[in-house]
Amino acid sequence: MELHSKQCGYFLGLSFFFAFIAGLASGAIQHHDFVIKPTPVNRLCLTQHVMTVNGQFPGPTLHVHDGDTLIIKVTNAGKYDITLHWHGVRQLRNPWADGPEYVTQCPIKPGGSYTYRFTIENQEGTLWWHAHSKWLRATVYGALLIYPKHGSSYPFPKPKREFPLMLGEWWNRDPMHVLRQATITGAAANVSDAYTINGQPGDLYPCSNKDTTVFPIQAGETILLRLINAALNQQLFFSIANHQMTVVEADAAYTKPFTTNIVMIGPGQTTNVLVTGNQAPGRYYMAATAYDSAQGVAFDNTTTTAILEYKSAASKSKKGSSARPILPQLPAWNDTNTADAFTAQFRGLSKGKVPIEIHENLFFTINLGLINCSGPNFRCQGPNNTRFTASMNNVSFVLPKRNSILQALYQNTPGVFTTDFPPVPPLLFDYTGNVSRGLWTPVRGTKLYKLKFGSHVQIILQNTNIVTTEDHPMHLHGYHFYVVGSGQGNFDPKRDPANFNLVDPPLRNTIGTTPGGWVAIRFVADNPGVWLMHCHLDVHIGWGLAMAFLVENGVGELNSIVPPPPQLPQC
Ligand code: C2O
Repeated sequence: MELHSKQCGYFLGLSFFFAFIAGLASGAIQHHDFVIKPTPVNRLCLTQHVMTVNGQFPGPTLHVHDGDTLIIKVTNAGKYDITLHWHGVRQLRNPWADGPEYVTQCPIKPGGSYTYRFTIENQEGTLWWHAHSKWLRATVYGALLIYPKHGSSYPFPKPKREFPLMLGEWWNRDPMHVLRQATITGAAANVSDAYTINGQPGDLYPCSNKDTTVFPIQAGETILLRLINAALNQQLFFSIANHQMTVVEADAAYTKPFTTNIVMIGPGQTTNVLVTGNQAPGRYYMAATAYDSAQGVAFDNTTTTAILEYKSAASKSKKGSSARPILPQLPAWNDTNTADAFTAQFRGLSKGKVPIEIHENLFFTINLGLINCSGPNFRCQGPNNTRFTASMNNVSFVLPKRNSILQALYQNTPGVFTTDFPPVPPLLFDYTGNVSRGLWTPVRGTKLYKLKFGSHVQIILQNTNIVTTEDHPMHLHGYHFYVVGSGQGNFDPKRDPANFNLVDPPLRNTIGTTPGGWVAIRFVADNPGVWLMHCHLDVHIGWGLAMAFLVENGVGELNSIVPPPPQLPQC
């Protein structure tokens, strides 16, 4: 009897779920099979076995139209637990498909599988997908390109060709081993050995010349490059020799066009640029190198390249007459002025409305930290015999182990999380001044902040000088937000809001705080679920630079979380 009623509930849930998917699916339905498996990949004169999707590195590019539904069966044929995240997809009322491990789902175990089903609703542009478990996204990632609905078009002349241009980061070791070592020692993780463009380091690295990525262009035509920063731990500067770029979109939201020589892009962000072939036909380097704002921290200072090649020049080069392409001028690695000046140029082109009246006025500090450690399993190889940590409002986020937060919420399982994440720092201090050492140690916890459905939220993300100031690319799941203001030093609630842009702020899903500064974002909490907010430098997620929102259901089924899909993995 008991069993029977459970099954009934299950099938009822199932049919609700499919009714939900069918109801939304005005577009096409795409099925994909993603098999995660170890794959030999040769880079920098070495062959290593790394996890990939379907043996491809980077993984498959998904091409969809706004309104389409994706059904992606993920089979884990690797040796690590894994989940996939569809970065920037809003997943309206459907957090079950979002993917961060132990937040919205338990991981897919080796030998297991899980099918992600979701519909793209009113989003277009460049997004991407990546693993959301430990450091697996170093090699498990790909582009997700959302074209306008059939019959509508871009708000700019249609480019002749389009290419995803994925910036990545490569280690001469299994990235999971790099993470493991850092977790044991408590020190900073080893920096990468190369950056990559579409998986290839390019000419400036050993054994990489013949595989350098080439982007073709014809004299006079305009192409669209869809830049994605998939690097694990590094903001990057990107430039093309002799060619200007016109920015037209970022994080799947159109922008007012502006022209630039340099793009700064943080992990998680996407930036679409138009490039016109208006130079002497030939071959031109496209290059990316680190923007690193932390003081006294090691980073990979190599440069990845690809080649922009005019078609007429391509035929010449086959006859052997090609000279070495010229390199673009890239800013110095610590050129925060150039990074900030680039980001400040974004203006939104969205039809949406910026929330004016604010119901939730939140202030979150973004902190690194150091902890003294003890116990036989851990070592203290961070500065002065400590371990690195990180926090928001002094809470270092801990992922639960026995259940995911969303499953615990849905099943009413106590003891997995609490909802007492502080709306403001527990202690006021001079955030960007000399912070006393006593304030460097956070508390640990799985603390969420509860938001009422439909509330208007403002968050000031305030960087602090704990250990070092640094630009942290902060990403919010389940939402995009308006970036209404930013500034240096401590946010001043009396003076700074007067300068907010409430007219045409850009919509983003990932935004950096200038080192030792702040950024202000706004959104309407119209998507119920559990949504992680974190720094997209993976080394910092592991240290706890994250929190999560619990957005409550609204009134009625259409404003509530849909029932869980079948075969949700259990922990
Ligand atoms: Cu692109 Cu939580 O991540």
